[in-house]
Amino acid sequence: MERIAYGMVGGGKGAFIGDVHRKAIRIDDLAVLKAGCFSRDAAKSNAFGAELGVEPDRLYTDYQQMAKAEAKRTDGIKFVVCVTPNVSHYEVCKAFLSEGIHVVCDKPLTWTVAQSEELERLSKEKNLLFCVTYAYTGYPAVKQMRKMVQDGKLGAIRFVNAEYPQDWLANSVDENSPIAPWRMDPKVAGISNCLGDIGSHIENLVATITGLKIKRVCARLDSMVEGRTLDDNASVLVEYDGGAKGVYWSSQIAFGYDNALRIRIFGEKGGLEWLQEDPDHFTFTPCDGPKQRFSRGRDQFEACAQQYSRIPAGHPEGLFEAFANVYKPFILALGKHLANQKLEASDLDFPGVAMGLEGVRFINRCVQSSKQGAVWVTL
Ligand SMILES: NC(=O)c1ccc[n+]([C@@H]2O[C@H](COP(=O)([O-])OP(=O)(O)OC[C@H]3O[C@@H](n4cnc5c(N)ncnc54)[C@H](O)[C@@H]3O)[C@@H](O)[C@H]2O)c1
Repeated sequence: MERIAYGMVGGGKGAFIGDVHRKAIRIDDLAVLKAGCFSRDAAKSNAFGAELGVEPDRLYTDYQQMAKAEAKRTDGIKFVVCVTPNVSHYEVCKAFLSEGIHVVCDKPLTWTVAQSEELERLSKEKNLLFCVTYAYTGYPAVKQMRKMVQDGKLGAIRFVNAEYPQDWLANSVDENSPIAPWRMDPKVAGISNCLGDIGSHIENLVATITGLKIKRVCARLDSMVEGRTLDDNASVLVEYDGGAKGVYWSSQIAFGYDNALRIRIFGEKGGLEWLQEDPDHFTFTPCDGPKQRFSRGRDQFEACAQQYSRIPAGHPEGLFEAFANVYKPFILALGKHLANQKLEASDLDFPGVAMGLEGVRFINRCVQSSKQGAVWVTL
């Protein structure tokens, strides 16, 4: 397959996740960066675009102009990657979808449910692929756990206990933090900080592995550090369709924790446990036997998971590879789509716009619940 041209909005010099996206795409080398609007400051965007090797006539001062100009070119970009802060996701995605360009956007997809619904509708109407980069779903261990749940190894799921503790906001915001302080600003982040930034990963990961659909939530969002408008700690009780229950805790004030996303899933026939900071391994405990340790790259991983493993067991893989594992199926599916080939369900092994929408719905309903005094709110 010829490498597919892509463009990027956001991800300027020093930005956090745009750089991870670019490097992850290069792992499989299926797409090449050809256009960009990397910052709202044209001079900064142009200087950085030149460093990245983007031709000057494809460096744009704003994303609207970029969408229109790229759509007109015969060699225009086929997909855009939106890695701006949350406030502009909706407008950026809409601009490119409207011009017939496929979209990859980081989470949370938009601020409001209505905005995400509109993006879903637009992508369907225009027959465009849409990926939301919930990167943790790309780990081979996550794919293997999903397969075991689908195969009934856990039986019916009874309870999920998942948490994402960090401590980088345990003290007052450091303006020089490498992770941008805009996350604390409702005018940029939206209605939530902690829950939107990391609690949304829990919601998506549980949905990906278990297929469970949330029926209702009862949430308490707190700002533990004085003077904050938005939450830095969130506790959520969850009820799923079918009767299973769960509890999700996300926190940025948990001293001693970096990115300790941990998920425990308990079914009537066994339990699973996985920690993002040790992503190659997970444990499965069957009801009638001892705890078993699964390891990426070893025989217990089935083809659907093992195909995303790049090096032998014992050589750790990490977040870059997980991102690459989101991009690989997306770009391969796009290649088929552009060649007018029919896409099978198995081609779409990446988080799509529907998952982005569910994530935004979850955040909004949790905030609503918390504001009403931690009452149950239906999704
Ligand atoms: N999937 C994940 O694991 C993950 C991890 C981190 C961040 N994110 C998400 O990625 C997004 C970006 O986060 P970040 O930490 O990289 O932020 P950041 O502040 O480090 O980077 C944002 C970049 O976007 C640029 N930008 C802002 N508005 C722009 C506009 N209108 N046009 C062009 N460029 C613009 C900024 O100049 C900056 O370079 C957020 O939505 C965040 O939630 C996702």
